Amino acid sequence: MATGRFLVLLFTILAGVYYFDLHNHPAVQEALERPAFAFLAALRQQNSLAVPNVPVVAPVDAPNPQATVASPTGSTRAPFTRHIVAVGDLHGDAGNAQKVLQFSGVVDAFGNWTGNADFFVQTGDIIDRGDDTIKLYKWMERLRVQAATAGGLVMTHLGNHEVMNAIGDWRYVYPSEINTFGTVAARQKMISTGSIGRAWAQNYTATSRLPLHPHLGGPNTPFPPPHHPIHFRREDDYEDESDHTRYYDPEEPLSHSALSFVHGGLSPTYSNLAPFPTKINALSSSLLEKLQHRVQPPPHPPNHYPGLPQGTTSEEVELYDSNGPFWYRGWATDTEEQVCVDVEKVLARTGTRRMIMGHTPDFTGIVSRCNGKIIIIDTGISHAYGGVLSALSIHYTFTPVESDDGEPRWVEREVVSTLYADRQEIIVDEARELVGNFRFQ
Ligand SMILES: *[C@@H]1O[C@H](CO)[C@@H](O)[C@H](O)[C@H]1NC(C)=O
Ligand SMILES: *[C@@H]1O[C@H](CO)[C@@H](O)[C@H](O)[C@H]1NC(C)=O
Repeated sequence: MATGRFLVLLFTILAGVYYFDLHNHPAVQEALERPAFAFLAALRQQNSLAVPNVPVVAPVDAPNPQATVASPTGSTRAPFTRHIVAVGDLHGDAGNAQKVLQFSGVVDAFGNWTGNADFFVQTGDIIDRGDDTIKLYKWMERLRVQAATAGGLVMTHLGNHEVMNAIGDWRYVYPSEINTFGTVAARQKMISTGSIGRAWAQNYTATSRLPLHPHLGGPNTPFPPPHHPIHFRREDDYEDESDHTRYYDPEEPLSHSALSFVHGGLSPTYSNLAPFPTKINALSSSLLEKLQHRVQPPPHPPNHYPGLPQGTTSEEVELYDSNGPFWYRGWATDTEEQVCVDVEKVLARTGTRRMIMGHTPDFTGIVSRCNGKIIIIDTGISHAYGGVLSALSIHYTFTPVESDDGEPRWVEREVVSTLYADRQEIIVDEARELVGNFRFQ
């Protein structure tokens, strides 16, 4: 793999803030079928930023043989695709969760993995405000195994409500939900050293980093990579919002081609962002371990708030405070001007292009800010809220294109859509042309 010099032709970024309804636009459906060459030709014709009618690249589930191109060295360069579906807070409602996972294509009518998505991501808060705690966590583990068998991956996260329950802060637990466990003691056991608690400890993380292309490594590959620190410019230099490329590593054309997922948010002033996501997840594991292995305190209420365990470190305290990843709400509540400046710092440090989170609900739909650099997917799915049923879909395609000069050229494209029971909207459509040889495993 030739490292070092790649010529990055960054000739277009189609800032995606145009919305349209797929059902009302047959032209979009037609465009979905078109091969990448047509897409590239259209891009070139449009000559960069003139946006609207750019065709949508095929979110194909399998490589499109038409798009395969012979490389200059004679080997065949095949297109690569990845489909990611993310869902926010579920809060004890298995019925609505099934509806969402089904209309987004993650599961079939029986709740089994379909294989239509490569990654299913849940951003935490499965527990509280409903009765289906046991059912939902069992289902996640069943899906995890089914996904792995089909070559897919389920990525689940701890929300503030999972941690609250581990602490003994049961303010949002329904008495009817406790009955599904039998007794308070049985519930304490199951969420500490029992099946649910062990699933949290083994299979749930506080945050994750998902590279879009395997060249950058597998899920949760840390950024910056060890032994290869990437030097960023001073913070003052992040003020110019129009420069979309300033935090790319010039040696690495796919630099930052990754997503982050977290429940609350990755605050720009949080101390332990890097290396990402390793540092946060290590703190979360150690805090959870302390919570699960203490003598379980009598739950609050009616008892007093038990607080964090003896021996909790200051970094673990900071992890769980309002500026930490479980509770932070700034990306939802701060002004557009502020968040669009701050987001660049966090994307730079975490090696990502967009941050996807739940926690702060908008009952009318998924919220996209700063051209999809911030996407908030809590729409109050649970009947406890009566919001809208929603999922986020990301189709990533990496397609070889014909080249006049013998260089291996590709178009990297992300189409991010919001999915609802009755409609879909494209919220981001960005593409870059780049040159180089990449690892696909
Ligand atoms: C769903 O998966 C389970 C195994 O987890 C299997 O027993 C069952 O037959 C599947 N149902 C359908 C309808 O495919
Ligand atoms: C965690 O996930 C693996 C599959 O990746 C599964 O075999 C294991 O049982 C899960 N752990 C728990 C405690 O559910």
